[in-house]
Amino acid sequence: MENKVQYDGIAKTLHWLIAVLVILLLLAGGGLEDLPVEEKTQVVMGHSGLGTLVLLLMMIRLAWRFTHRPPQPVAMAAWQLKVSVIVHRLFYVLVILQPVFGIGQAMFVDYSVVAFGVIDYSALAISSESMAKIFHVAHGTNATLLMLLVLLHAGGALAHHFYHKDMVLRRMLPYGRVPKE
Ligand code: HEM
Repeated sequence: MENKVQYDGIAKTLHWLIAVLVILLLLAGGGLEDLPVEEKTQVVMGHSGLGTLVLLLMMIRLAWRFTHRPPQPVAMAAWQLKVSVIVHRLFYVLVILQPVFGIGQAMFVDYSVVAFGVIDYSALAISSESMAKIFHVAHGTNATLLMLLVLLHAGGALAHHFYHKDMVLRRMLPYGRVPKE
């Protein structure tokens, strides 16, 4: 069987596309709740559209991951390998939950949420203060956990690249050059 040393093009594209979208949404999400309602409705139109795109891309990514074998792990300490497996699995869970909680919130808030001006989430349910609150807390808490995970993940990748000087980061880079084993 072929021994892959790199992630394939689809895995790399999905990884970086989702990473850019999630980081953008995390950064731009701060301060959203304090905006005046007209402005918030406008901003959330784009926010919810991009978030819905993340959910769609994660479904494709999950399907790709289940049907395509990733490269063998790079040689590293057993504890590092364990932590990286946990972090990667947590990413799948949190990045899927984030837009799901967002959609829950969008369904119940008392202003209109129409993703990209096309998907009218507000039409799916009657607004409810308590339900909106539950999803608001879930969406905000999950966002904080996601930020911490992004920092841990990026820190780990940079440590591998600059300190251990191995191929962990390079094999996920768009034009990363990895020597054949
Ligand atoms: C990976 C995708 C997403 C990320 C990273 C993200 C991130 C965030 C963050 C950081 C906030 C501010 C939270 C706070 O401080 O309370 C926020 C607010 C919000 N998000 Fe998302 N979000 C995502 C997807 C979605 C989706 C798909 C929707 C709806 C369809 C959505 C709807 C909302 C709404 C309505 C608010 C504002 C709530 C308010 O204060 O009225 N989000 N989001």
